[in-house]
Amino acid sequence: MREKATILVVDDENGVRQSFNMVLKDDYNVLLAANGEEAMAIFKKNRVDLILMDIRLPDTDGVTLLQKLKEIEPDTEIIMVTAVKEIQTAVKAIKLGAYEYVIKPFVVDDVLTIISRALEKGRLVREVTYLRSELERVKPFEKMVGKDEKMIKLFDLISTVAGSDGAVLVQGESGTGKELVARAIHNRSPRNKKPFVVVNCAAIPSTLLESEIFGHTKGAFTGANSTKVGKLELADKGTVFLDDVDTLDTTMQGKLLRVIQEKEFERLGNPKLINVDIRFVAASNKNLPHLISRGDFREDLFYRLNVFPVNLPPLRDRKNDIPLLLNHFLARYSKKTGRDVQRFSEKAINSFMAYDWPGNVRELQNLVERFATITRKKMIDIDDISSPDIVYESVKPMKLKDAVNEFERKFIGKVIDRVGGSRKRAAEIMGIHRNTLLGKIKDLDINS
Ligand SMILES: Nc1ncnc2c1ncn2[C@@H]1O[C@H](COP(=O)(O)OP(=O)(O)OP(=O)(O)O)[C@@H](O)[C@H]1O
Ligand SMILES: [Mg+2]
Repeated sequence: MREKATILVVDDENGVRQSFNMVLKDDYNVLLAANGEEAMAIFKKNRVDLILMDIRLPDTDGVTLLQKLKEIEPDTEIIMVTAVKEIQTAVKAIKLGAYEYVIKPFVVDDVLTIISRALEKGRLVREVTYLRSELERVKPFEKMVGKDEKMIKLFDLISTVAGSDGAVLVQGESGTGKELVARAIHNRSPRNKKPFVVVNCAAIPSTLLESEIFGHTKGAFTGANSTKVGKLELADKGTVFLDDVDTLDTTMQGKLLRVIQEKEFERLGNPKLINVDIRFVAASNKNLPHLISRGDFREDLFYRLNVFPVNLPPLRDRKNDIPLLLNHFLARYSKKTGRDVQRFSEKAINSFMAYDWPGNVRELQNLVERFATITRKKMIDIDDISSPDIVYESVKPMKLKDAVNEFERKFIGKVIDRVGGSRKRAAEIMGIHRNTLLGKIKDLDINS
């Protein structure tokens, strides 16, 4: 069930306040204020979704109060209550950001309709803000593949962990799939209809990170020209993914620890506490216990996050998955590029199996994407692999001279191909005399 929205009623007449209270209290949390000062005090202390405000107040006028409130919290919807003779002021209020005005005396049902429409608008605005932030990094839904025993265990662990609400710490080398795991946990959790919000701790400069996470109010610091809703607020009821959590400085670590423990925080420049219900998933490719011993990572935060540790094996420790991943990405990219690349040759697969993949799955994926984009053949062979690391890790130990000859043979053959067979042009490009080239073609048995 959705949580009740909170409505603040501001009116100097007790009778009016009480009748609003009667009508609203079943469906909403209602707060009451008799004047501008009371309204401001309540507003600063509570999260308020909508305000019903009399345009005439004993200590201020509705338009001034509206401006002050909007400055603190532009997202709060405000409905002005007015008498016929003050319609001009009400119109002014609309120009300044009020959602609507209602004229006294009014029909209760009409007011209720306006309230629910205003709240719905607020909800949509939040959703759009969230979707925009997600769109920036939109990715097609990516499937996680693996049949190595280590991966089967990992998939089991993901299912178990997804059902619980405890924090998760995903550790593994770069490119092993930490973000994919975090998304999988969220997608399988009861929170999957709510946002999955990524905080890219390493990519955001530390000066901006705090406002990115907690949000800020207008004027909170130089350059804060408008109020910004932070990622924690956007992620309410959903999951926050703290990527590269080890790069946070210890001050930010302390601030996040507080959110995890207390489930509340403040926007920069506004002491009002905001409550959130968030599941945290953090990732790191560093050895956190080691960082703790050096004083670079807070031990208390580590224990808070490490409720469920998930460790991703590097690709070199599950080489059985290499052919599966090659085919998985080849199918994806050849579909995307429209080229009909069907498979890798056995020799090519063998050299991939012998290679250690320091960049893990990401490196393999990038390589396949490159092949699928440039090749015009149905089968990718060892000769198509231009990465020296991969080719030479897979060759049998041999004399250097033989290895150099082998390289020259392939390289020269490719250059000649590239220039459409012209010996002259190829020699120029390689910076050798044409006769030297002709000699090499003969000695190395290059058939181009
Ligand atoms: N098991 C897998 N199956 C399919 N794709 C995978 C798998 N593991 C990783 N990938 C893909 O490899 C790429 C890298 O994965 P991801 O971004 O999750 O890695 P990471 O561990 O977060 O890396 P980094 O530490 O560099 O941020 C992504 O495009 C992801 O979709
Ligand atoms: Mg990542």
